[in-house]
Amino acid sequence: MIRVRVPGDKSISHRAALIAPLASTGSVVRGLSDGADVRASVRAMRRLGAAVECAEEERGLTIRCAGGGLDPGPAPGLDCGNSGTTARLLAGILAGSGIAAVLDGDPSLRSRPMRRVIYPLQAMGARIEYAGAPERLPVRLRGRATGTLRTLRHRGRVASAQVKSAVLLAGVLARVRVEVSEPALSRDHTERMLAEMGVPLAFDPGRTGAGEVSFDPSGWEGGLQGLRMTVPGDPSSAAFLIGASLLGGRAARVESVAANPGRIGFLSVLEQMGAGIDRDPAPAQAGEPLETWTVHPPDGLRAFSIGGDLIPRVIDEIPLLAVLAARARGRSEIRDAAELRVKESDRLAVLARTLAKLGVVVEERSGGLAIQGRSGRLRGSVETRGDHRIAMAFGVLDAAGDADLRIDDLACADVSYPGFWEALEPFRRGSPRGSFSRTGGVIAVDGPAASGKSSTARSVAQRLGFLHVNSGLLYRAITWWALGRGIAEDGAAIEAAVPGLDVDLVPARGGFQVCVDGARPGPALESPEVTARVSAVSALPAVRGVVLERLRRADRHHEIVCDGRDIGTAVFPGADLKIFLVAEAGERARRRLRQRGAPFTEDDIERETRRIEARDRLDRSRPLSPLRRASDAIEIDTTSMPPDRVVDAILELAASAFRVTST
Ligand code: S3P
Repeated sequence: MIRVRVPGDKSISHRAALIAPLASTGSVVRGLSDGADVRASVRAMRRLGAAVECAEEERGLTIRCAGGGLDPGPAPGLDCGNSGTTARLLAGILAGSGIAAVLDGDPSLRSRPMRRVIYPLQAMGARIEYAGAPERLPVRLRGRATGTLRTLRHRGRVASAQVKSAVLLAGVLARVRVEVSEPALSRDHTERMLAEMGVPLAFDPGRTGAGEVSFDPSGWEGGLQGLRMTVPGDPSSAAFLIGASLLGGRAARVESVAANPGRIGFLSVLEQMGAGIDRDPAPAQAGEPLETWTVHPPDGLRAFSIGGDLIPRVIDEIPLLAVLAARARGRSEIRDAAELRVKESDRLAVLARTLAKLGVVVEERSGGLAIQGRSGRLRGSVETRGDHRIAMAFGVLDAAGDADLRIDDLACADVSYPGFWEALEPFRRGSPRGSFSRTGGVIAVDGPAASGKSSTARSVAQRLGFLHVNSGLLYRAITWWALGRGIAEDGAAIEAAVPGLDVDLVPARGGFQVCVDGARPGPALESPEVTARVSAVSALPAVRGVVLERLRRADRHHEIVCDGRDIGTAVFPGADLKIFLVAEAGERARRRLRQRGAPFTEDDIERETRRIEARDRLDRSRPLSPLRRASDAIEIDTTSMPPDRVVDAILELAASAFRVTST
């Protein structure tokens, strides 16, 4: 029996992060998901001036909110990252609390429909303009002061918990009557949490069929009471491990999972497929039921057929159900699921295309899929489109054996389930292979200026399926931020502000992007202004401390290749493999000049060589984290080596340090 615990439920965590700070008294919520999505919600609330303290504990994030509501500056920009829940619930909060702000997100979120939430909020009187493409993010939103929003009776055409939540939050914060009905009940976490915080809502917890909820402020004094809860495990994350248990034929026990009826429709589908699942109730948490599940895999899975009002209750598990269908006896059908076309990717299209590529017979319909299960080897590549649930679903298929899948983006699982790939390992059949032979760890690449650290580290990471982390990104981001605040020349001001600065690495395709004070500076990090100041800013002890701490967090959920000047000595002294790249100064000068792309003369080389030698002296003699080779680092002199050979040499060393093979 494999025992597992999954991270805190993402939907409940979002609501805790977004609603607890609005209470008039203090809240403590433990066990929040520490995925990128929930972090986007916490970050946005901080940008809105909410007093939220956030600590990483063994079982996820703990947030402590002083209460007392929001206190934003003028129209802050709120980056919702990949998270539709953050964007849509925030729209309701802004509308109801009379705040102006700009909501934006990553390219996937920018492509998702926003009209469904903007339209009812406009009908209530909020002023909202599309700042980019029509009906998409970014939007400029200006709420109305309490009491001036209009009452609304909203009849949703699709079942959407996010839209329902936005309207409810707007109504509650502005204290106007709202009613929402939906064709099939969507998850009701917002209703349960608001009721727990003392809001008079009329709803019927756990009912199935059409949904109906209303808020009536008459007789309500107002003011949300603080929230105390531990977020139960995420059933949508658990579903992947249950799927791995069923496909791999190994019994599993999943502890303390949220068992909200709006979320666990997939259990009935798995039962249709022949799985045995024992459900043991545990005491509820803040109105949310909890259960521990024991999964007994059957001797082979049967096909299933789903549609109608079950769909909202299995909406996030359909990618997993589709890969299980590929291995079931018979033809499975998924109907009435057009909503999947507007999730983090067009999930119907991505599932159909990928399954077909692997050799599964699949029919894509406008609102669903028909999938003919098959046995035998499945082989091919999986383009996840950065969609976490697609990556994890195909990861489960790969782990079950008789499959050879190359998944292009493993890191996107961090959106909802950091640590997923490690959790999947015990379910894996057969010997580990390729990019899945993951044993955890860090490769540190150090060296003097222009020694080719970054490009080498990037190629090594790509070949191994590790993530590339460049410490310079963080130094540049802090410099960029200091320039924007007009304090880039003022070391003392930077040192005073940087410990409280919201700066972090966010996993992005194959590596990390940096997010600082709610923004992603992107190419601005390479501007001449930043380049001119970054060396001085990075010499400040407080800055180095913050960067060191952020870098050390990056290896918690991924294998990484990290490059810089003090990675093997100061940041990761325990790295599994340390490389120190050197090259003669003249050769480094030539490489740098070639990189700039303009023609150059022998004189230019002379001058650049002298500059590089001076920089070397400075880096080696600075008091804090001077450039030096760690005693256990392997030095590679690249003066007369082409870049490919340097990468190959490191891959060979990595093969013995990690037991991994490159792609
Ligand atoms: C969510 C609601 C669902 C779901 C999403 C999370 C929520 O979306 O797919 O993953 O937390 O409210 P819709 O509201 O668009 O159905």
